[in-house]
Parts: sequence; structure tokens; C-alpha cells
Amino acid sequence: MTDNSQAIAILGGTGDQGLGLALRFCQKGRRVLIGSRKAERAVEAAEQVRAKVPGAQVEGYGNEEATAKAEIVILSVPFEHTAGTLKAIKESLRPGQIVVSMTVPLATAIGDGAVRTVGIWQGSAAELVASLVPAGVEVVSAFQNVSSHRLQHLEEPVECDVVVSGAKAAREKIMALCPLVEGLRALDGGPLSNARIVESMTALIIGLNVRHKCPEGLGIRFTGL
Ligand SMILES: NC(=O)c1ccc[n+]([C@@H]2O[C@H](COP(=O)([O-])OP(=O)(O)OC[C@H]3O[C@@H](n4cnc5c(N)ncnc54)[C@H](OP(=O)(O)O)[C@@H]3O)[C@@H](O)[C@H]2O)c1
Repeated sequence: MTDNSQAIAILGGTGDQGLGLALRFCQKGRRVLIGSRKAERAVEAAEQVRAKVPGAQVEGYGNEEATAKAEIVILSVPFEHTAGTLKAIKESLRPGQIVVSMTVPLATAIGDGAVRTVGIWQGSAAELVASLVPAGVEVVSAFQNVSSHRLQHLEEPVECDVVVSGAKAAREKIMALCPLVEGLRALDGGPLSNARIVESMTALIIGLNVRHKCPEGLGIRFTGL
């Protein structure tokens, strides 16, 4: 029987950010299960990963099946489709799993710009996710400030700090994933409520990318550690 305890599911791993993480995790030998609303799209994305990372342990499934097969489930769909995706996978989630919220509630979701976020009643997209998962499923916030372009550019490290927040044990498991991506450094972001700060920093970064003409995407670094 396959050991799924180390598998990482990436729902919406057919898109820019999820595919980038899949490539990087596979480069370090981790087993990745790409999820999609259409299993065949996920299978195609898995083929793309294998083409770039020979020998990659990667498979493609529908979102529900990918969720059922993994302990860690990274949500990589646009903010406005987060609740719908969670609803679709609800039956596959079980206590003990960790759902990683990486989404940024950009105002593009309501037809406004990408340089600001929308207000969310719960305080952040990650806390919204936490309100939607079944009891016993932990939610951790991470990776919102990492550029998809840099993730996919495998020849270079991704120079960026990743502020990880959520309940301690789950947070530590996700912090341990960060160094799998060369250049990423995990910082202990404390409780999930800090996600509201981290999410809004991405909107700031998008504006900085434009003003400083950096289409590859800037990263963030905290100094003094
Ligand atoms: N791009 C970045 O640089 C970046 C940086 C930091 C954080 N993020 C966050 O990472 C997440 C993914 O970003 P992305 O740029 O990869 O997004 P994306 O490419 O626009 O979309 C990712 C995937 O979401 C799924 N999706 C699209 N429409 C959907 C719908 N109506 N319902 C359910 N699923 C749908 C699609 O997968 P299927 O069609 O295969 O189901 C798509 O491949 C977002 O939450 C974003 O805020 C992105």
C-alpha cells in the first residue's frame, strides 16, 4: 500500500503558483498529488512536472481524490473560488489533515485592482478557510508572498521569507516544507490571525513589482535574525 503520510496535495496545482510549488517539492524528492476540477488537467500538469524534473514522484487527480490521499493539502485556487473548492472537497477532508491557505484576497475578486485587498469578516482569507473546514482539520497560512514566476524558474533560488501562521504543531509541519524550495526561509508567524498582515503584503508587493519594473516578482526578507 502507498504511504500517503508524506504526500502533499496541491489543489489547483494546474495554475501558476501551485505548479511552481509542485516543481520545487518534486525537485527535492517529495511526492506531490496535483488536484484539479478535471482530473485529466491534473494528469497533464503532472506530465509537465515530470518533463522538467525527471523522476518526479507526481500524480494528477480530481481535487477530491487528491485531498483524500494526502495529509497536507495546499489550496492553490484564486480567492474568489476558495469557498467553492472547500465545499467540493468537504467529504474528503478528515481530522488531522492540514489545509494550507496561500490565497490573497485581492480586490480583483470584485473587479477592482490587484494592488489592494478586500476586507473579510473573519479577518483574513486564511481565517475564512478555517471557518469552512470540518472540525479537527488544521489551517495554516503560508507562501502568499512567494512569486510564481520565481518558483517556476528552477535554475535560481527563490529569495523570500515565508511567514507561516496557525496552530503550533501544524505550523511547524508547514515551516519544515519551506526549505525544500531553495532560498525560502520559514519564519514563525504565530497565530492564524496574523495572516491578515501577510496577505495584504502581497498586494503591496504587486504594486512594488510594477513601480520597480520587476515582472519576475520581488521577494521579502526580514533582517536581524
Ligand atoms: N501567482 C502568484 O504569483 C501567487 C503568489 C502568491 C499567492 N498566490 C495565490 O495562489 C493561489 C493560486 O494562484 P495562481 O496564480 O496559480 O492562480 P490561477 O493560475 O489563476 O488558478 C489556479 C487554479 O485554480 C483553479 N480554478 C480556476 N477557476 C476556478 C473556479 N472557478 N473554481 C475552482 N477552481 C478554479 C484552476 O484549476 P483547475 O481548472 O485545474 O481546477 C487553476 O489552474 C491564489 O489564491 C493566489 O492568491 C499566487
